[in-house]
Amino acid sequence: MKVTFSLIKADVGGWPGHASVHPDLIKIAEEELSKAKKDGLLIDFHVTHCGDDLELIMTHTKGENNEKIHELAWRTFKKATEKAKELKLYGAGQDLLSDAFSGNVKGMGPGVAEMEFTERKGEPVIAFMMDKTEPGAFNLPIFRAFADPFNTAGLVIDPSMHSGFIFEIWDIHEHKSVKMKIPEEMYDVLALIGAKSRFVIKRVYPKEGKLPTDEPVAVISTEKLYQIAGKYIGKDDPVAVVRAQSGLPALGEVLNPYAFPHLVSGWMRGSHNGPIMPVGVKNAICTRFDGPPRVVALGFQLSNGKLVGPVDLFDDLGFDLARRKALEIADYVRQHGPFEPHRLPLEDMEYTTLPKVMEKIKDRFKELKD
Ligand code: 13P
Ligand code: 13P
Ligand code: MG
Ligand code: MG
Repeated sequence: MKVTFSLIKADVGGWPGHASVHPDLIKIAEEELSKAKKDGLLIDFHVTHCGDDLELIMTHTKGENNEKIHELAWRTFKKATEKAKELKLYGAGQDLLSDAFSGNVKGMGPGVAEMEFTERKGEPVIAFMMDKTEPGAFNLPIFRAFADPFNTAGLVIDPSMHSGFIFEIWDIHEHKSVKMKIPEEMYDVLALIGAKSRFVIKRVYPKEGKLPTDEPVAVISTEKLYQIAGKYIGKDDPVAVVRAQSGLPALGEVLNPYAFPHLVSGWMRGSHNGPIMPVGVKNAICTRFDGPPRVVALGFQLSNGKLVGPVDLFDDLGFDLARRKALEIADYVRQHGPFEPHRLPLEDMEYTTLPKVMEKIKDRFKELKD
């Protein structure tokens, strides 16, 4: 059976500030998706949040980019926005860039990670959700799960994944994509994806072996809110969906990279570098300096599209040291205040006062003589 797993998210109002999502918004989303399940549009759903982002996890048989599914997500975000306005939540409707729906939520503000695939005998799927960062934050952990033999033992010892994977990489500045082979082109891949504000891993495909090579095994949202809107309206907090086991990295191999709280850009005002902290949903609240950036992982087994779960995978002792390290790094970088590399370089900041400062003092600048 072919099933589509759709994870669609938007910030439709923070509670308070940019910290979390109000329970009334979650309730509205659950009611809307529950109706769609009764009507047979959805097989199953789960609503959650990461920080101030409302997350709709849905399964169905309609395929990717389906108008009905996207319209359902849009309508749900619109309804939640009405409530957010009534409660005067912060930035109500922040990520909805238009009043009218035009067939697909892509380019309209929400973030989308969805993939259609043939459900296997055992199909573990993980929904990853990040707040206070950008799509390139997934480059490092996805690379390590699917390409780094020091992370993923299966790349070395499992005959069914020894041949590697195909990475589909997007240049989000130039709006181009390229498919590259792992491990053959590993160094070239790293040359691209290390520049994470420009090159992002969009999808991973199996190369050969047990699984169909035209069905993705991982997908990451790549919407760049800033570029879509042309002005600062909040960071494009990303989501990803990853399948595991049987010819793919084991669940634990997919999760292991998050034991290292790597530096990502986002955090306060979308303009700072900070460590990404793996947390359970109950701790997915962005507090200190509006962070540190968080990542949540909900695990499911699929059963004919039904979501058996979730298991809140980072709500576990195994990630205690990562959280402690993230807090130590947060202390360290925070002491840089407005200095780079804590504050992002000028071109990556979401907003800046520099043009105004320059305008004010422009007549006081003197030519250097030598
Ligand atoms: P698979 O056969 O599902 O890849 O099992 C490997 C495993 O679970 C190792 O932890
Ligand atoms: P969000 O993108 O999560 O709304 O955060 C915006 C911000 O400015 C945090 O400081
Ligand atoms: Mg917000
Ligand atoms: Mg957010």
